[in-house]
Amino acid sequence: MTKPVVLVTRSFFPELLQQLAETCSLVVWTEENPPPYDWIKGHLPQADALICMLTDKIDPELITLGSANHLKVISQIAVGVDNIAVGSATDHKIPVGHTPGVLTETTADFAWALMMAAARRVVESAVEVSHNIWRPWGPEVLCGADVYGKTLGLIGFGRIGKAMARRAEGFEMKVLYYEPRYKPENASISNAQYVSLDDLLCESDFVSLHAYLSDSSRGMIGKAQLAMMKPSSILINTGRGAMVDHIALYDALKNRTIAAAALDVFDPEPIPENHPLLSLHNVIITPHIASASTATRHQMAVMTIENILAALNGKPLPYCANPEIYK
Ligand code: GLV
Ligand code: GLV
Repeated sequence: MTKPVVLVTRSFFPELLQQLAETCSLVVWTEENPPPYDWIKGHLPQADALICMLTDKIDPELITLGSANHLKVISQIAVGVDNIAVGSATDHKIPVGHTPGVLTETTADFAWALMMAAARRVVESAVEVSHNIWRPWGPEVLCGADVYGKTLGLIGFGRIGKAMARRAEGFEMKVLYYEPRYKPENASISNAQYVSLDDLLCESDFVSLHAYLSDSSRGMIGKAQLAMMKPSSILINTGRGAMVDHIALYDALKNRTIAAAALDVFDPEPIPENHPLLSLHNVIITPHIASASTATRHQMAVMTIENILAALNGKPLPYCANPEIYK
């Protein structure tokens, strides 16, 4: 029997790919940069399964092409699947796999690290020292903001938002959260209070984004929202870059209508090399690494492969972003 073909858009954990290669024939893009769209398009007609990354645009054209051939499953090493036309996959009865849950604590750890780093100017200070600038100790040198006891505003209150609220307990913070659809079951989380988006923006010292990217969250932090934030407040984004208007953010940071920002995600990624935000000292930008602990990324890869093998064996995906296809 011929082995099913799995198209893989980036190489990862060789021992996992070797294991998969025992039962599948792999076509792997091995470069560090994502493959061009046409590479995926060229190989998709032969593929029974696709393992993709959030850097790949899997649009309706690709899904229709795969579906017209042998494609049985799309499995992504990420929890967010906004780069995949999931609706189109659902129409074609193609399950889309993702990796929810496993990266929750790792991502919250990193969001927390960004919050602490932005508040206490960790990166700015370390960069100065690495450039041989050691400002003499002085009462006002490199002063930042306290985190302990402050108000944390969480936009999106899924697994990661809740993990942030748990961390906030240890810092005796007041926690506010907003999500477009109020979920009564969240009322039992005693240290977090549901508020309107406007109230959250007005009252929080730290505003951290943990929503999925959707038509309603796209651009949700723009000029008007930034204007509501306190001049001392700090914005953290470990969700998706497209939730923030980065030109409006630049203006707010430059004019100090907010104090600082820390962004692990951008729109587009990578950030364009001449982007004005790169000229500011009060912003930290990291290259989409919030879930990047070795253990978590390994487990995400394991889940991705479990999804592939389930589909190739005619079973429902254990971690499915469009489970309605099984109804
Ligand atoms: C990372 O951003 C993910 O969605 O897993
Ligand atoms: C992601 O896993 C979330 O639900 O926040």
